[in-house]
Amino acid sequence: MSSILIKNGEVITATDRFFSDVHIEDGKIVNIGKNLEKPKSATQVIDAKGHYIFPGAIDAHVHMELPFMGEVSADDFETGTAAGVAGGTTSIIDFVIPARNQMLLDGLKMWKEKAKKSVADYAFHMAVTWFGDKTAKEMEHCVREEGITSFKTFMAYRGAIGVDDTEMIKVMETAKNLNALVTAHCENGEMVVALQEKLFREGKLEPKYHAQSRPAPLEGEATARAIMLARMTGVPLYIVHVTAKEAVDAINEARLRGQVVFGETCPQYLLLDDSVYEKANFEGAAYVMSPPIRPLGHQEPLWAALKSGIIHTVATDHCPFNQHGQKTLGAKDFRKIPNGAAGIQNRLTLMYTYGVLTGKIDLHQFVEVNCTRPAKLFGMYPRKGAVMVGADADIVVWDPTKEGVISAKTHLHKCDRNIFEGYKTKGAPAWVIVNGRVQYDHGNLKVERGAGRFISRAAGL
Ligand code: URP
Ligand code: ZN
Ligand code: ZN
Repeated sequence: MSSILIKNGEVITATDRFFSDVHIEDGKIVNIGKNLEKPKSATQVIDAKGHYIFPGAIDAHVHMELPFMGEVSADDFETGTAAGVAGGTTSIIDFVIPARNQMLLDGLKMWKEKAKKSVADYAFHMAVTWFGDKTAKEMEHCVREEGITSFKTFMAYRGAIGVDDTEMIKVMETAKNLNALVTAHCENGEMVVALQEKLFREGKLEPKYHAQSRPAPLEGEATARAIMLARMTGVPLYIVHVTAKEAVDAINEARLRGQVVFGETCPQYLLLDDSVYEKANFEGAAYVMSPPIRPLGHQEPLWAALKSGIIHTVATDHCPFNQHGQKTLGAKDFRKIPNGAAGIQNRLTLMYTYGVLTGKIDLHQFVEVNCTRPAKLFGMYPRKGAVMVGADADIVVWDPTKEGVISAKTHLHKCDRNIFEGYKTKGAPAWVIVNGRVQYDHGNLKVERGAGRFISRAAGL
């Protein structure tokens, strides 16, 4: 195993900043202190002068190799986690999504197999896409035997992976008994279908109608409903990919009442507006995701919610589909465009450039929402999300001066579009250490297929 000494850097945590050296041995952080001597064992010394040292980021919402809407998302666990490492993300949480009527544990078996290629550590949320006789027992098995301590419910995607309120209540009651967390994709699924059918009947078929079929109030309604169901069942709730100010208001109201509700958002909802759907030549399809990119007026409330602690994490919902051959399935009908886009490589640099450097969040909040809070909420702290003696040696050495421009021509996502095409960035990883090994060094990726390990997570907040 390698031993690395990082010298002269400034450690940034969710609460503190201090100049310190960091010594890594056998995949763990073993010493943090000023003027550390080079240990005899050290095989590498990194001079981090002028750089920040963050905990490796966790992307708590990704979909690698996901069968969805008749296609499979374009990054697999190897390419997706490699792109993540290049961007400073050293652990992911993917979603096991069994088909309706498939046993949860059969779905888990499939995901375990796919994830063996991962270059970085990974964990799973379990999506409950239907509720049968054995589901409660399977959920118990997930928590007690598999270290899968969060369950996902989709209120959208009716007729596919979506659940109704009765099923959702059962998931919540079971999760409550298991001390587990319920996560929810909040959109009113029935109304989305009704609007989709109306638009289709009217001959409105282009990508922009995807957004019109899923307006913000439908997210607000479903968020409030999920919160009410969680309140009645007494389970903690985590709302994934919050996009709309109506949803922010619902979360805030619940929290002010003392309910345990958390929110996640993604860079695309903070930075883009729905004018992207007006792009000519079917280019708007690249932005077809659910919930959709919102009109102007939603982004500032999201930033404010992040800054004020109403929203707690930033993830990517990384779920790339190629424009050619995948998105084009919906060339004549927006309902058939596979939903999702790439983002795992770009999250940190976007949040640093457009969040920290603009003053919308501070450096500690940047570490909190990208690294530390996901680890805490999902039962991985302090093994993950911390620069602390005893923690896993997942570390980002960050160059705050490095400038770049995001492009599908250069990104490592295995897809032909980048929804942040042309975005200028400042601040990027210089070195990324994963499990004690330098896996990224100034543009050179040195990842190893299969080196990632499954992270068993603790239950309870
Ligand atoms: O459009 C999206 N978000 N695709 C991935 C599945 C989901 O809803 O998270
Ligand atoms: Zn979703
Ligand atoms: Zn998702």
